[in-house]
Amino acid sequence: MSDFSFYSPLPFSGNIPPKSPNNILVHNQIQLRFLNPNDYDIVKELCEEWFPVEYPAKWFEAITSDTNLFSLAAILDGKIIGLIVAELKHGKDLNREDKDILCESQTKFSAAYILSLGVVNSRRRQGIASLLLSNLLNHLSTLQCKAIYLHVLTSNEPALHFYEKHHFRVHKFLPYYYSIGGRAKDGFTYVLYLNGGHGPWGLQEYIHHFCKLAMVELCSLPQWCFGQMRKIVHSIAAVVTW
Ligand SMILES: CC(C)(COP(=O)(O)OP(=O)(O)OC[C@H]1O[C@@H](n2cnc3c(N)ncnc32)[C@H](O)[C@@H]1OP(=O)(O)O)[C@@H](O)C(=O)NCCC(=O)NCCS
Repeated sequence: MSDFSFYSPLPFSGNIPPKSPNNILVHNQIQLRFLNPNDYDIVKELCEEWFPVEYPAKWFEAITSDTNLFSLAAILDGKIIGLIVAELKHGKDLNREDKDILCESQTKFSAAYILSLGVVNSRRRQGIASLLLSNLLNHLSTLQCKAIYLHVLTSNEPALHFYEKHHFRVHKFLPYYYSIGGRAKDGFTYVLYLNGGHGPWGLQEYIHHFCKLAMVELCSLPQWCFGQMRKIVHSIAAVVTW
């Protein structure tokens, strides 16, 4: 695990525009707090309900007690109704399949990996996951973090829609990435670049970049011609006055 700590002051407020009066009511009553070791049992229960992947006990211990992780819970009536868990990784320490998320020159910066995001069934589609993500993004905007990324099953349509709505884009197709019930399932890596972050350039980016440079050169052409003409006029005027 990295040396980063997420535990700097965090703005504990949602900034997602609620969709309906019902959502306003729910949003006003929601509190956000970090997970702690007392949440172990309920977090385990919720994750077993939400995810088809089996996590070891150590994983639940980590997300409820490791202060290097950003483990934020949404609480309604004293109960956890949603949570997001993220880890800040140094660009040089990304897993093999994620190495190309940042371009070579940005591997000195960090990228945040979303380990988990879930909302209880009865509270879905009310902006809770958006609220949690928004708090994480607010926090990352204060750090030297160039990207936020995650892995997701290609069949998890609600999650795909969710991340696309929040401007994440597919970075990579991961064939047979998951093992679920003994069967291999495909995944995607989704990425959202932050704070000027970007991935390695492909042909398209190079073309775009050189076209932009060419445009700048073209735009400065009239100014250059004007400068040259001024010089000529000045030298003619100097000859005539002699
Ligand atoms: C994915 C998940 C976290 C979304 O949580 P949520 O609180 O319902 O999300 P929000 O209310 O903030 O949704 C925002 C947007 O996500 C998309 N979305 C969410 N659920 C969706 C669904 N069932 N079908 C299609 N789009 C959906 C929509 O674009 C939605 O915006 P809209 O309501 O204006 O159409 C939730 O469905 C969940 O917990 N799923 C199980 C766990 C999981 O798969 N987590 C992701 C692992 S990577």
